[in-house]
Amino acid sequence: MKKISDRIASFSRLQLVGAVTPLEKLDRLPRMLGRDVYIKRDDTTPLAFGGNKLRKLEFLAADALRKGADTLVTAGAIQSNHVRQTAAVAARLGLRCHALLENPINTTDVDYLRSGNRLLLDLFDAHGEPVATLDNADAQLHALAERLRGDGYQPYIIPIGGSNPLGALGYAHAGLELAQQADAMGVSFAAVVLASGSAGTHAGLALALAHAMPDAQVVGITVSRPVAAQAPKVAGLIDGTAELLDIEVPAELRLELWDEYFLPRYGEPNRAALDAIRLLARTEGILLDPVYTGKAMAGLLDGVMRKRFAGEGPLLFLHTGGAPALFAYRDALQAVPI
Ligand SMILES: Cc1ncc(COP(=O)(O)O)c(C=O)c1O
Repeated sequence: MKKISDRIASFSRLQLVGAVTPLEKLDRLPRMLGRDVYIKRDDTTPLAFGGNKLRKLEFLAADALRKGADTLVTAGAIQSNHVRQTAAVAARLGLRCHALLENPINTTDVDYLRSGNRLLLDLFDAHGEPVATLDNADAQLHALAERLRGDGYQPYIIPIGGSNPLGALGYAHAGLELAQQADAMGVSFAAVVLASGSAGTHAGLALALAHAMPDAQVVGITVSRPVAAQAPKVAGLIDGTAELLDIEVPAELRLELWDEYFLPRYGEPNRAALDAIRLLARTEGILLDPVYTGKAMAGLLDGVMRKRFAGEGPLLFLHTGGAPALFAYRDALQAVPI
């Protein structure tokens, strides 16, 4: 445990998150569910409406500055929380931000195209460039960086979701923070539940918790792809992050992914996610989102109902943010009253 924290501390890191994020015990939801649920409030990180990406950007933006970059280059959906947080960090650091933006649900809904996260990109003065798809994102980002270099800029590429081993360090760090908080509160979690998308959050957290909280089952709820495609993504990033840190991947680390909650597809909400959003809002005053945390919470709730968790103890939900996208999904949220 000491070794991981020492190794993480040896990487340059900007202080963007500041204090540790709260670990809260929920009250009304557990009474309905019959199961203790805690929530780690990474939705409250302090920049631009918060979210998980700030933890990754602490390491990625430090690297960009060290390399003399003047432009952060990244990509995501029009409603990407990652792009919003990257744009905010760029603004904070006096850098430019240039992002490739796709419309993954082919919608013409003006809320999706202009409000929510997309509106905030304009406020941060980021340059959003529409693309038909991001099927070849790494090559597309390299081509964009080449173009920017031709125009005299010094671009730094941040992959989709900030998910490379350096970005995943943010969640290795968060995993140690969570283990310390749980220890201080005297709580031992049966399982930790989170949304698993571009996979850096899941990989960093699973690696740190395998060292620091080995009895907790870590359950990634997929938000974009089935297990067969997501598992190698997460596993590859766990290996890459362990290699970067020069630590072992503990033999006990069991990768667990549940993929029953993301359909019909990435970026398109389903009934269970919309119900979970309403439930958390009504019972706890906590805002989830239709793309990530609503689906992850739907998985947690269903997991309790169907007794899918291995242990009996309290559950921890990692709230990774995303609420600015609520405004982009107004139609879906208003259309299905409970
Ligand atoms: C709100 C929210 N939760 C979860 C995730 C998933 O994190 P990751 O891409 O690291 O898997 C994202 C990624 O964009 C997100 O915006």
